[in-house]
Amino acid sequence: MPQSVKEIKTKLEKYEQEHLFAFWEQLEHAEKKSLIEQIEMIDFALIEQFKNLVTKEHLAYDPEELAPAPFFPLDRTPEQQDKAKKARDKGCALLKEGKIGAIMVAGGQGSRLGFDAPKGAFPVGPVSERTLFQYHFENIVALEKKMRQPIPLYIMTSKMNHQDTRKFLQKHDYFSKDKQTIHFFQQGMLPAFDENGKIILADKGSIALSPDGHGGLLNALKHNQLFEQMEKQGLEYLYYFQVDNVLVNICDPEFVGMHILDNCDMSAKTCAKREPFEKLGNIGIMDGKYVTIEYTELTDKDKTDQKKDGRLKYEQGSIAIHTFDIEFIRSIAESKDGLPLHLAHKKIPCVDEEGKPITPKSPNGYKLEQFIFDAFPFADTVLVMETDREKEFSPIKNAQGNDSPKKARQDLSNYFAAWFEELGIHVPRDDSGNSKFSIEISPLYAQDAAELGEKLPSGFEINDNLLLE
Ligand code: UTP
Repeated sequence: MPQSVKEIKTKLEKYEQEHLFAFWEQLEHAEKKSLIEQIEMIDFALIEQFKNLVTKEHLAYDPEELAPAPFFPLDRTPEQQDKAKKARDKGCALLKEGKIGAIMVAGGQGSRLGFDAPKGAFPVGPVSERTLFQYHFENIVALEKKMRQPIPLYIMTSKMNHQDTRKFLQKHDYFSKDKQTIHFFQQGMLPAFDENGKIILADKGSIALSPDGHGGLLNALKHNQLFEQMEKQGLEYLYYFQVDNVLVNICDPEFVGMHILDNCDMSAKTCAKREPFEKLGNIGIMDGKYVTIEYTELTDKDKTDQKKDGRLKYEQGSIAIHTFDIEFIRSIAESKDGLPLHLAHKKIPCVDEEGKPITPKSPNGYKLEQFIFDAFPFADTVLVMETDREKEFSPIKNAQGNDSPKKARQDLSNYFAAWFEELGIHVPRDDSGNSKFSIEISPLYAQDAAELGEKLPSGFEINDNLLLE
């Protein structure tokens, strides 16, 4: 029930947040209404949680207690190859039965990339400028054709990009995926706090809000009654991926099949780190539970320590691809505490005491976020599976350099170049081993080298940029 202005003022005083009304008298009627709505959405218990987090002496883990998690390797023994084959068959069988759905998180702000639209609309195709969304949708549609079964796709957006994402996909007719099998839902937004635990005003009449992190997925599924909807459809497993990884192998039957054969609650794909300081999460075991230690928190010693064979002690990095038992994530979402909150120290646009806008040059406050990998400690059984970076991991994070669009385009060309080479077709490469020509293949044309081989005319040569679709 809407609260009266007086009640709200009293509540703000109780929680020492009365500054949110500092410009009340200067607001128009509609602005007042909007501010009230925003305040009513705040979970005031967050204020206490924030204070505890900010004062906590932060040590993410005790290096003595943490050990690297075992993983199913890429370099496989004959028994492991056998198991992987069984897993592929199992994964395909369950895809055909409609037990597996895909979930794409696309609610982030993409601040490092600085692209003025949802990240999924970023043109990444090295020849055609195919967008990230188009790749992902076409991959799913191609798999649906193979499995002769629709694959439900859940897309998490946030307040900042929900409408734009829907409009973009509608405009492109969902890249021919059946609209009935696509479910959009929005994640929650949380207020940002200054160093003194005061909620930040973005302008005179609105609170600085930001999406609650990819871990916000669990609350968002719960609040949108999507667990019930999944149950009704008979879905049992979700393949989780992030919109910005252009090489993701969505609903990879081998990975999901392995998760099922091992009876896991949650599984993760990893790849060998490029170098000890690569910015990837580290999966370990602590007190008998699986945990992810972020790269910012792993000690330099743990980052650089080597095993007897000369490989890094923490040689694997998490690439943010998971399989979940739906019942497992549902139980976390419905538990009392759910996933923990983390603080991110950021530059948050705000107003000064006179209400003038400030664009801070250094971090002035904290955003609160949940991380999906914090689901690990809730799991009894976990699978960590190594994969090949060149085939499955090229995220777009930064405008330039590592994990940039330029790198992703080159990675795509190299990925497709390897298919031609597998078919015995020569691909010109430069001194760094990169394909000299841009190569792009729509997943609707072929999803692997074998399929490509069936379609290519004999004597096919690569002597220019190439687009097959
Ligand atoms: P990142 O943590 O890389 O964030 O998200 P980002 O929003 O893409 O980029 P920066 O940090 O602002 O530069 C990894 C994935 O998780 C999703 C993103 O959309 C991306 O697919 N994500 C992140 C959400 O869905 N919601 C969030 O609140 C945060």
